[in-house]
Amino acid sequence: MERIKHKLLVMGGKGGVGKTTIAVNLAYALSKKGFRVGLLDVDIHGPNVPKMLNLEDRELMSKENKIMPVKFSDNLSVVSMAFLLKRTDAVIWRGPMKHNVIKQFLEGVMWSNLDYLVIDFPPGTGDEAISVSQLLKDITGSIIVASPQKVALLDTVKAIDFSKKVNIPIMGLIENMSGEIFGEGGVEDTAKETNIQFLGRLGLDAGIRESGDKGIPFVISNPMHFNTIVEKIVNLCEKR
Ligand SMILES: Nc1ncnc2c1ncn2[C@@H]1O[C@H](COP(=O)(O)OP(=O)(O)OP(=O)(O)O)[C@@H](O)[C@H]1O
Ligand SMILES: [Mg+2]
Repeated sequence: MERIKHKLLVMGGKGGVGKTTIAVNLAYALSKKGFRVGLLDVDIHGPNVPKMLNLEDRELMSKENKIMPVKFSDNLSVVSMAFLLKRTDAVIWRGPMKHNVIKQFLEGVMWSNLDYLVIDFPPGTGDEAISVSQLLKDITGSIIVASPQKVALLDTVKAIDFSKKVNIPIMGLIENMSGEIFGEGGVEDTAKETNIQFLGRLGLDAGIRESGDKGIPFVISNPMHFNTIVEKIVNLCEKR
């Protein structure tokens, strides 16, 4: 773990707001900049990272008693519960078992020297978030993803409160799915009200959903906009 420079948690109070989409694209974009990146999916019940990177049929191997992450590319390695399951298996576990597997994913994986470890969380502030906050030392920050409608913002404020209570520094908020349907600007307003950095917004766009379904990060075909967000994150990490 000590050989990982920056540890970023992608979280959000609400389900389906685009946490995994942002985590996958952030990890991919960082790897394309030449950084060595690990992407850890701690969504034990609904692990979607492999699907979004078209790695669904891969499995975790072990070497010298350590778990070897699945390689997406030379610079991007991935670990997910999905690599241990058949596609339709449901995981029926309570907190302590999830804690153990997350411990394995953090301490038992040969992550090697990473510039960035990006961790994709399930929605909310349950077992997985508590486990990571206890197990992972020196977290660089959390990136909280939210959509702009009022019901999502209510949950966002809870995610912010959680980060503060467990002493995870909040790097900033991202507004996802903004536009006519869910509105625009609500997350930026929440950022101002709570005195947290606003990292940028992504519109609700069928192309983003399609690339997720195909397992091809949308940042490959649309680098400009998302890269502004990525650069902000890199700058904030390097300033620390
Ligand atoms: N900006 C966007 N425009 C259109 N579709 C999007 C956008 N962001 C995410 N999606 C789509 O919305 C769905 C949910 O996104 P995603 O799985 O990333 O959310 P999540 O917050 O990780 O969900 P969960 O809470 O289940 O982990 C996916 O089908 C994804 O492709
Ligand atoms: Mg997700």
